[in-house]
Amino acid sequence: MHILLVASAFNSLTQRVQAELRDHGHSVAVQLAHGDDPVREAVHRECPDLVVAPYLKTALPRDVWSVHTCLIVHPGPVGDRGPSSLDWAVHEGVSDWGVTVLQANAEMDAGDVWATASCSLPPVGKSDLYRNEVSDAAAEAVLLAVGRFASGTYTPAPQTSGAGEGLRPLFRQSSRRIDWRSDSTATVVRKLRAADSQPGVLDELLGDEWFLHGGHPEPRLSGRPGELVATRDGAICRATTDGAVWIPELRPRRAPGGPATFKLPATSALAGRLSAVPVRPAPLHRAGHEDTWSEIGYREEAGTGFLSFSFRGGAMSTEQCQRLLSAYRFACSRPTSVLVIGGGRDFFSNGIHLNVIEASSDPGAESWANINAMDDLVEAVLTTTDRLVVSALSGNAAAGGVMLALAADEVWCREGAVLNPHYRLMGLYGSEYWTYTLPRRVGAATADRLMQEAQPVSSTAACRLGLIDRVIACDPRSFDSEVGALASHLTALPALPSRINAKKAERDRVDLAPYREAELVRMRRIFADPHHPYHGLRRAFVRKERPASGIAVQRPPRG
Ligand code: COA
Repeated sequence: MHILLVASAFNSLTQRVQAELRDHGHSVAVQLAHGDDPVREAVHRECPDLVVAPYLKTALPRDVWSVHTCLIVHPGPVGDRGPSSLDWAVHEGVSDWGVTVLQANAEMDAGDVWATASCSLPPVGKSDLYRNEVSDAAAEAVLLAVGRFASGTYTPAPQTSGAGEGLRPLFRQSSRRIDWRSDSTATVVRKLRAADSQPGVLDELLGDEWFLHGGHPEPRLSGRPGELVATRDGAICRATTDGAVWIPELRPRRAPGGPATFKLPATSALAGRLSAVPVRPAPLHRAGHEDTWSEIGYREEAGTGFLSFSFRGGAMSTEQCQRLLSAYRFACSRPTSVLVIGGGRDFFSNGIHLNVIEASSDPGAESWANINAMDDLVEAVLTTTDRLVVSALSGNAAAGGVMLALAADEVWCREGAVLNPHYRLMGLYGSEYWTYTLPRRVGAATADRLMQEAQPVSSTAACRLGLIDRVIACDPRSFDSEVGALASHLTALPALPSRINAKKAERDRVDLAPYREAELVRMRRIFADPHHPYHGLRRAFVRKERPASGIAVQRPPRG
């Protein structure tokens, strides 16, 4: 079938639905719902068999849904309606949830049901759930609904009853407010997670108004409720009535008529104001599964090393790359023959940290420092010759983050992960040794196509292309244990030492320096030219504005 996706943004779910529908042999076009007319024109131009809206913040025009079957993905179970479904579910600590695909009609989320799929909601942030458990359920429900529509025999069911709560209002800041004098750690964390990653919780801190983004419970530290008691990995730790919470990012409240603001690591946002707050690093090498939060951790199980990291939005600043590199060096000093990097939940990496770059007094220079720090990290992985390195991607990766994964000897991806192995949408040529790793894996022609088309790729398609080695079909919560079992199998293989020797011999034959040098010549030119599109695209990206010009989302080719 030819399917038109209509979406408010080409977000993670839209990318996944597009990639999976294409994997299932459908041709897919994407239209952003920026006004009714572009949607009407797209329907007229594409003559789709079916319209699917994976992520829509506005209603479809009546003359579209009354003529074409339009399926809306609602991130809630049957009977749940309204614009803040997941916010309410996380806020209320719901653990079983679902996604419904319903037919668009005149009433919001009230149409007939084409398919539904259930999912669990583990205690993590809303957007993490949206990109993982909810995304899995949405993909399942969309494929089911599309199959039913294609059969021509299915009659969607009217919404008579369901587990949902009916129409619920927009979740406003007034419901999100934290009362530091009376809220417990559990309550504060729930409020922060229901607002994560957007819109954040509006609060007051050191005399200014900020949106707080992200929240993790801290089991040991405490203080006067509301007081800042520690910093770690760019986050601040704030005392509650019965403990404390880690808050990784802050965004200043926008002044009336002022420019848009954007998120930064909390300690960068509060730079110069935290001298009295102690730094409390967490131990890198964890004996068990300690419950305190940190961005990077290392553990060993049965002779296998696991270096896990989780950066907000997958973005890796110069400092984060340097911290990860020193953790990587530590991991390489350990007596293991297989080292797994990644794992955990959500994004693997999305490359250089565009927000930190944007906030810098010299974004060109900071871009340069950041790409060099990424390259140092990738180089360390590429030149590891005494053990096998596996990249384990539980969630999505893009741009330099994909190339970081490709530096390993094997790349394993959770089935639901979506990869964007290209840089063009940010106007960049790219580095991270991609000119070596990408063609080596997929061949020069496919590498060129991936870079030029700049399309999301499902993990299944990535495996077919040779971009990755293994697809792990499991839910996000089982990913670590699946990876652990596969890694210990790898560690126990009798052929492992000879494989490591062969890899060393191959590395000794390749001079990596020219690849980096040639990439960085192009990148330096881009960073140093204030008129290069990269700077405008970055500015728009971090402020969540539509870029005024340059590279927008293209319609993928049919088929
Ligand atoms: N730097 C800073 N923040 C980044 C980032 C980066 N490189 N990549 C993603 N993020 C942030 C987004 O701003 C967003 O923040 P929010 O949660 O506050 O809204 C969050 O991570 C999730 O990204 P989002 O764009 O909403 O997710 P998506 O799944 O819809 O799209 C990408 C994912 C990776 C395609 C998109 O984020 C992207 O193009 N990122 C830039 C990749 C890049 O060009 N990197 C630099 C070159 S190495």
